[in-house]
Parts: sequence; C-alpha cells; structure tokens
Amino acid sequence: MKTFVTGATGLLGPYVIEAFNDTDVVTTARRGGDVQCDLTDLDATRQAIEELQPDAVIHLAALTDVDQCERDPGAAKRINVDTAANLAATMPVEAQLVYISTDQVYPGLGGPYRESDTAPVNVYGQSKLDGEQAALRHPNSVCLRTNLFGASRTDGRGSLSDFMAGMLREEKPVTFFEDIFFSPLHMRTLSGFIRKIVRNQLSGVFNLGCRGGASKSDFGFMVAEHLGLPTRTVTVGVSTQMPDRAPRPSDMRFDVSRIEAVLGTEMPTLEEEVRKL
Ligand SMILES: NC(=O)c1ccc[n+]([C@@H]2O[C@H](COP(=O)([O-])OP(=O)(O)OC[C@H]3O[C@@H](n4cnc5c(N)ncnc54)[C@H](OP(=O)(O)O)[C@@H]3O)[C@@H](O)[C@H]2O)c1
Repeated sequence: MKTFVTGATGLLGPYVIEAFNDTDVVTTARRGGDVQCDLTDLDATRQAIEELQPDAVIHLAALTDVDQCERDPGAAKRINVDTAANLAATMPVEAQLVYISTDQVYPGLGGPYRESDTAPVNVYGQSKLDGEQAALRHPNSVCLRTNLFGASRTDGRGSLSDFMAGMLREEKPVTFFEDIFFSPLHMRTLSGFIRKIVRNQLSGVFNLGCRGGASKSDFGFMVAEHLGLPTRTVTVGVSTQMPDRAPRPSDMRFDVSRIEAVLGTEMPTLEEEVRKL
C-alpha cells in the first residue's frame, strides 16, 4: 500500500508518517518532503498523483493560522479548499482521500457538537468546511474533524501543550483561558485512529476527539500536574482579553458517538490523553 502524506512538514505530519510506517509512505510539502508540490496548482497535483499512484492520501496541508486566514481569505480558500478540490479531481476513484478538518467548523456556543451542527464563526473554520465539501466530491473520501496536542517533532512549530509547558518551565507569565472548551487528542492517538480509519475504509464526516473535553485552563493545569511543572506564573483569564484576533468559537467540544459506533470502540478521555505527554 502506498500512502501520500501532504503537509508532512507540519506539526502533525511526523506522527502520521509514523502511524503509516507499515505502508510505503511518500511525503510532500511546498518546501520539503520527498516530493515538493504546491497543491493549489492543479497540473502539479495531477502530475504528482499520476507519478505516485497512491492508495491513500492523508491531506494535512493547510493554512492553519486562524488570524492569517481572517486577513487573507483568498489564501485560506486556495490552501484549505482548492488543494482538496485538486486532489479529489486527480486521484483515482479507488484511492482513499482523508481530509483532516477542525473543530472550528462549529459555532462554539455550547458543545458537545454533532457532525451536522456546523456554523463557522471565522474564515479558517469556513474554509475548512468548504474544504471538506471539496474532498467529499471524491467518491472514496473521509473528513475527520479534530483538535490535537503533544510534543512537536517539527522545528519551529509548537503545539498548545508545548507552549503551555514551555511557559511554565521557564516560569514566565501565562494566561490559561477558562472560556474556551475543546476535545483534543494526543497526536499519537489521533494518527493511530487515522490509520485505523483508512484500514476500515470509512467514508463520510466524523468528529475525532477525546470523550468529554475540558476548558483550555483545566487542560493547562492537567499538563502542569502530569509534567510536574510549577503553576505560580499562571493567570486564569478569558480569551476576549486578547485584542485584534479573529473571532473564535468558545466551546468546540465534540460528540464522538458516531466514530465510537462505527469503530466499535470508546474514545479515550482527556486525562488519558494528557498522560501520554
Ligand atoms: N495544529 C492544530 O492545532 C490543528 C487543530 C485542528 C486541526 N488541524 C488540522 O490538522 C492538519 C495538520 O495541521 P498542522 O498543524 O500539522 O499544519 P501546519 O503545521 O500548519 O503545517 C501545514 C503544512 O501544509 C503545507 N502546505 C501549506 N500550503 C501548502 C500548499 N499550497 N501545497 C502543499 N503543501 C502546503 C506546509 O508546508 P509548506 O509551507 O512547505 O508547503 C506544512 O507542511 C491541518 O489540516 C489542520 O487544519 C490542526
């Protein structure tokens, strides 16, 4: 089996590559990976797909900076939507397209959210939802809405848990938001589930997060406790204190019953996930 991992030089890429190491993995990005390809370019995408003939494409490539998406909706569309459309248009019908999406497709007023509850509040969330629609035009596609943390293996790109742990370790002042709720998975768990979903040839749209969830503040304290880090520099606050930011959904917690039913397994709790740090 040949697996083509896009956005492989990003935060999640190394974990996905590891999870698919029982397959022949080929990686891509614009400035790295085995094959350099700008996936906003239809002809370049077609050439890469024709040369590689992948059995599965794990599409991680994205413009993930929420504020940058808000400032430049054209770039958000090109990278989060058009790349998925180009893959869907050029991949063989029997190959599987996995589009990694986000919890920011939900309105954030009160989770847990089911898959049908979409109403994005920012350009990033809308572009990822449009990207899902583009991916779903491929007959063998699956969209996985997620959030994630874990130790980064990518130079210059840290996760939320890296940021929190770094500030605590250096005893620098840091604000933990008590008004933002989410259901993230450790990147190792997430990548393992992506592998399982490909193996089971699932199609459609799924929330892929932990059971329940917590505020980012509670998450930060869980990380601190697990890693044995001091919390005296922490202020608990609200995200609206941050000026000049794109709007963010506040409660992005998932209802994970759909993926649990299809895989016949319970998703882990956030406490279990933090213990994997
Ligand atoms: N990070 C999170 O907290 C989070 C949370 C929820 C969901 N997600 C989703 O998870 C996926 C992976 O996120 P991530 O944080 O690992 O991403 P990331 O660190 O921001 O990396 C993005 C990757 O996409 C590549 N890329 C960007 N534009 C491209 C283009 N036009 N053509 C080809 N490659 C391109 C980048 O490499 P080059 O710049 O060299 O091209 C890089 O490898 C994304 O789909 C994201 O929406 C992430």
